[in-house]
Amino acid sequence: MPALDDYLHRFAVQHSRKGVSTVHVLVDAGRPSLILGYYTLSAAQVDVLQLSDVDRKKLPRYPIPCFRMGRLACRVDQRGQGLGKLLVGCAVDRCLQARKQVAAFALIVDAKHVQAKTFYEHYGFTPCTDSPMTLYLPLV
Ligand SMILES: CC(C)(COP(=O)(O)OP(=O)(O)OC[C@H]1O[C@@H](n2cnc3c(N)ncnc32)[C@H](O)[C@@H]1OP(=O)(O)O)[C@@H](O)C(=O)NCCC(=O)NCCS
Repeated sequence: MPALDDYLHRFAVQHSRKGVSTVHVLVDAGRPSLILGYYTLSAAQVDVLQLSDVDRKKLPRYPIPCFRMGRLACRVDQRGQGLGKLLVGCAVDRCLQARKQVAAFALIVDAKHVQAKTFYEHYGFTPCTDSPMTLYLPLV
């Protein structure tokens, strides 16, 4: 997907330096110069009204702190082999570690198309009430 390649080439380093997002790449130890996939993480918040009834009832009525996985991609020739699953798992683990230091209720993602939305739903992400292409996964 050109936008995701473009991000890696043009913006990833700058965004990391500026504190906009951290970029985490997946490589094969035997060939570390070849990026197989990546994801980005940043701090975020979500309006409590965007959450499901069950989640909303447990939370205060002000914006809820979260992490956002702004981008996720695997190399075209590596798709369908479990790397996407590995990257999502790594992102969730990283968020679980980070929330020991800075509180966050969920990991948010913005699905860029319907297949991506289905992919996230496969892992238990819930669509937000008014913007179903934004989904969240509680980290509790
Ligand atoms: C989305 C993407 C990261 C998925 O990575 P992948 O390596 O192809 O996916 P995996 O092989 O890890 O699939 C993992 C699981 O998700 C399932 N899955 C994959 N795509 C799916 C989809 N569109 N809908 C539902 N399930 C899906 C697989 O069946 C597999 O299920 P299992 O673990 O139960 O066997 C990859 O296709 C990609 O880079 N797409 C282009 C960029 C993109 O669209 N990013 C998301 C932008 S928001």
